Amino acid sequence: MTFDDLPNVTADAIDLPDLDKLGLPAEADHAPRILILYGSLRPQSYSHKLALEAERVLRRFGAETRVFDPHELPLLDSVDKHHPKVRELRELSQWSEGQVWVSPERHGAVTGVFKNQIDWLPLEDGSVRPTQGRTLAVMQVCGGSQSFNVVNSLRLLGRWMRMVTIPNQSSVAKAWQEFDDDGRMKPSPYYDRVVDVMEELVKFTLLVRGRSDYLVDRYSERKGDVAARELARQAAVTAA
Ligand SMILES: Cc1cc2nc3c(=O)[nH]c(=O)nc-3n(C[C@H](O)[C@H](O)[C@H](O)COP(=O)(O)O)c2cc1C
Repeated sequence: MTFDDLPNVTADAIDLPDLDKLGLPAEADHAPRILILYGSLRPQSYSHKLALEAERVLRRFGAETRVFDPHELPLLDSVDKHHPKVRELRELSQWSEGQVWVSPERHGAVTGVFKNQIDWLPLEDGSVRPTQGRTLAVMQVCGGSQSFNVVNSLRLLGRWMRMVTIPNQSSVAKAWQEFDDDGRMKPSPYYDRVVDVMEELVKFTLLVRGRSDYLVDRYSERKGDVAARELARQAAVTAA
């Protein structure tokens, strides 16, 4: 068996995520919805190429995908939240059940282009929480030899956005060596790791589906709600 769009995958080793093996009911009503964000505006960006490679693998694993283009996304607070690119990003995040974040490493950190996208995503906007409870896979590209600064930072950001970050991750060292002239990732252990990460992301997304509200429900917030209800009750008694 070969996969035409994934020539560097050993097709016989692919094990499509399976609801039965995950102990889930057979009737999945839709494909896992995955949003992919990347962090560079360079025309030849390797984080963009890696994002597209991840997208191909995710589709093969049965996911529906969207890649957000960060061009024209204004800097945080330079426009209001009704700007079309801000709305597009927030709606995509709200649509997603899982996300892939791919940032280059610059000066040991995530890029401003990447961080600006996360900064535009509110933890809470009314009753809408565009990231909370979603699964997350983190990846980075390096110009130099292996580094994990960015994937570590992305994990921190994922925690801050209350996401379920999967254990596996990908850091592509010397990214300029890893893509061919057509922009496709060459066969390598780095490529295999990308397949691993996407496989794991789809499995975790299926597992978390329908349970994320419960998983992220917190005692301390329920306690706050109880206190607010009591205050409202006392105010009503006083008013009467
Ligand atoms: C100003 C600057 C700082 C950089 N800092 C790092 C770094 O700290 N670690 C690293 O591995 N690569 C570093 N690089 C290399 C980039 O990670 C590399 O060029 C990467 O491919 C950029 O992402 P892109 O191809 O998606 O634009 C740096 C590049 C620039 C221009």
